Amino acid sequence: MKPIILDVDTGIDDALAISYAVRSPELQILGVTTCFGNVTVAEATRNTLVVLDYHDSDVPVIAGADKPLFRHREKEKETFIHGEDGLGNALAREPKREAAAGYAPHFMIEQARKNPGKVTIITVGAMTNLALAIMQDPEIVHLVENVIVMGGAVKRWGNVTPVAEANIYADPEAAEYVFRSGIPITLVGLDVTMQTLLPYEKLQLWRNKDTELGHFFADMTEYYIKAYSQLYPGVGGCGLHDPLAVGVAIDPSFVKTVPMHVQVDLHGIHSLARTVADLRDKPANPPNMDVCMEVDADRFLEHFLSRVV
Ligand code: BDR
Ligand code: CA
Repeated sequence: MKPIILDVDTGIDDALAISYAVRSPELQILGVTTCFGNVTVAEATRNTLVVLDYHDSDVPVIAGADKPLFRHREKEKETFIHGEDGLGNALAREPKREAAAGYAPHFMIEQARKNPGKVTIITVGAMTNLALAIMQDPEIVHLVENVIVMGGAVKRWGNVTPVAEANIYADPEAAEYVFRSGIPITLVGLDVTMQTLLPYEKLQLWRNKDTELGHFFADMTEYYIKAYSQLYPGVGGCGLHDPLAVGVAIDPSFVKTVPMHVQVDLHGIHSLARTVADLRDKPANPPNMDVCMEVDADRFLEHFLSRVV
């Protein structure tokens, strides 16, 4: 089993990613850490606890950063994509328990030190918690096995602005800090996650279960697909962004990666938070991450749907 920390801003696709991780015996979830992003950190923590309750999971949930390192948040939450509650307005319960004591960056440090060379951190929201962890204990960059980041886009356009992806845009300085830190990174960006679409028809698989969990999955994902159909007319589904990052932890052969040097634009007037990859034949700097450029979307989708049932 691969020990992981899943860092989320729960969000609909985060909720699907948490479910996928919980249902995957290849992964040992040491903890789920939360951050602001799709919703506030308090809401992300509540949503995470509720999703885990649905699976009768007692995995620790540790709350983290409530704001970016330096910037003011433009919006409290992304209601158009994720609903008022962050779960497509499908939230029908309160959590059965509270978050564990502690602070997400400290939890990351503690786990990296306890399991040297073993822990994979999967970030599917703003990268603030991990940046704070590295600032406080820079040695963890040598102790963490890998960081799988859902964020950015190197050959494709953005989603939150014409060129920026939402998780990088949420805290560009945090992302750049982590990218420069020397920690091993696999970037799962829009280049691949916009190819792993969950088609609308698949919701019926969950509805057919006629369970509370099946309806919860279907209702929240239907909200997400409706938002997608307005943003990307004709696409017929929603991007499984965060689940793909978990998928890469379960089975790296879902994707093909290319080593690249990637930086975050921190000053662009029209390009703030763009992930700029040096794609020249002779890049100026050595690679700082492996970027996923191809995905076996059919095999991934089949695997995801075989687990998230
Ligand atoms: C990312 O942004 C959020 O809305 C999703 O949860 C995902 O992590 C996709 O750009
Ligand atoms: Ca997310």
